[in-house]
Amino acid sequence: MINRLRILSGIQPTGAPHLGNYFAMMKPVIELQDKGEPFIFIADYHTITTTPDPVVFKETSMNLAIDFLACGLDPEKTVFFRQSDIIQIPELAWILSCFTPMGLLERCHSYKDKVANGIIPNCGLFYYPILMAADILMYKSNLVPVGRDQKQHVEVTRDIAQRFNNKYGDVLVIPESQIKDNVATVIGTDGRKMSKSYGNTIDIFNTAKKTRKSFMKIVTDSKSPAEPKDPENCSIFALYKLFASEKQIEDMAERYRAGGLMYGTAKQELFEIFSEYFAPMKKRRDELAADMGYVNSVLKAGAEKASEVAVQTMKEIREKIGL
Ligand code: ADP
Ligand code: TRP
Repeated sequence: MINRLRILSGIQPTGAPHLGNYFAMMKPVIELQDKGEPFIFIADYHTITTTPDPVVFKETSMNLAIDFLACGLDPEKTVFFRQSDIIQIPELAWILSCFTPMGLLERCHSYKDKVANGIIPNCGLFYYPILMAADILMYKSNLVPVGRDQKQHVEVTRDIAQRFNNKYGDVLVIPESQIKDNVATVIGTDGRKMSKSYGNTIDIFNTAKKTRKSFMKIVTDSKSPAEPKDPENCSIFALYKLFASEKQIEDMAERYRAGGLMYGTAKQELFEIFSEYFAPMKKRRDELAADMGYVNSVLKAGAEKASEVAVQTMKEIREKIGL
């Protein structure tokens, strides 16, 4: 049997997906469906670090599943499941924690940033990269498509896997992250990295009215309509590039430089190109939302397939360790 490239990524159900999530993670992993064997999951165990409201939590997880399917995840090609349906994950995380020096976790930017922003960390937040390592290593993943902010977590995973393999032989596969340069950090409406925690997102599925409002919020400099503008220093243009063809990008850049372009007009055009791009997915989303039986059956079948792999991996690991 030919060994296929195993691709894996997860996303936390912390809110509605935005353009950063879509272009850095959802789209790349969906595009890889024909190039390997993707495993994609809703990282709900990770979200418990934020102690979410149970009703909202459940709803957000299901909505995220619908969003992914609407964006083109094909359950015939991709194993799609909820992380918490794989009960072996916490077991592997525990085992891996015994191969993880404290200092490795203490150096994680994501943890340090959260603490610097005043979050009082629970142990789960500190342990988070080990749980992520368990996700990646459980399915012997080769490639992990993520945004730049997750790169360090994949490096931590590699480090842990190497430490484990040093003791027990080549049991775990050392994964590589895949980060698309042009979308490594998608800019939010305030010019910072787009993130749910900054309230600067443009959600991929929202009412036209709310979406338009988000686009109009994009912060620009205060140049008058007549003045020439620098496209490379403008968040509207940065977002426009995500959707437009080469020709459209060149034309827009030219209009910026020539002067006479109002930022309001550029925002409106960005809104239009966005709406056109997501329209077929939005339609599919409405259909899926009306057929939750189907969505649940996809997640159930995905959990069964992922569990088969997990059972096998844990059998191997337990034997190696001597449990
Ligand atoms: P958020 O910061 O909004 O909470 P998540 O942490 O849920 O986003 O990220 C899910 C995935 O999307 C990860 O792979 C992450 O790297 C990617 N991602 C999130 N925001 C961005 C962004 N602004 N630019 C590029 N990738 C992003
Ligand atoms: N930590 C990732 C995020 O917040 C989600 C995630 C959990 C993940 N486990 C993973 C991503 C494994 C890639 C691989 O975005």
